[in-house]
Amino acid sequence: MKFFIDTANLQQIKEAHDLGVLDGVTTNPSLMAKEGIAGKENIINHYKAICEITDGDVSAEVIATTYDEIIAEGEVLAKLHERIVVKVPMIKDGVKAIKYFSSKGIKTNCTLVFSAGQALLAAKAGATYVSPFIGRLDDVSTDGLQLIEDIRLIYDNYGYETQILAASVRHPMHIISCAKLGSDVITGPLSAITALLKHPLTDNGLAQFLADHAKAAGV
Ligand code: E4P
Repeated sequence: MKFFIDTANLQQIKEAHDLGVLDGVTTNPSLMAKEGIAGKENIINHYKAICEITDGDVSAEVIATTYDEIIAEGEVLAKLHERIVVKVPMIKDGVKAIKYFSSKGIKTNCTLVFSAGQALLAAKAGATYVSPFIGRLDDVSTDGLQLIEDIRLIYDNYGYETQILAASVRHPMHIISCAKLGSDVITGPLSAITALLKHPLTDNGLAQFLADHAKAAGV
């Protein structure tokens, strides 16, 4: 399963990259705004900076919501770097745009997906990735992980190649459950990824090993 980090923070992207487990980056307009990135030129430069850190795919989201504008914006984004994936919202014009991008060999990430039907449409349109938002479903008392299971079943039934990119991941158990369910990718904050490192028995065991070693050495 691939690990993407869901942030526009360059420091956190570097930290995840240095850990050696980073396969890509996802961003969205809210995450860009959180880093104070605004204005066409700054946004473009920021995507380029992200592409220089990671060797994986980088999702860059369009702001446009009409077909012609999504195509125009997406084509500019796709030209920035070979690893840019154009992130397109799950709306009617978005699905049409994904179909167009797919015919041109431009990678896409269909975002804001909350149902199996939406995921089926994204796959039929030829999306490279589909992003079901599991945390936001959990937030409204709906089982986000059930959606991952449903999409996996549907895609496997028909051999769709669209990769399931479990998004809105909030904690390490989301990551583990997604791995058990066969999600192709997860994207989440650095904190959810580094939380996988932690176990109190590891810390206790290491402390004991080091203490025994020091004792034997007469330190
Ligand atoms: C997906 O690509 C989105 O950027 C993201 O995962 C949304 O997560 P949130 O629900 O924590 O904002």
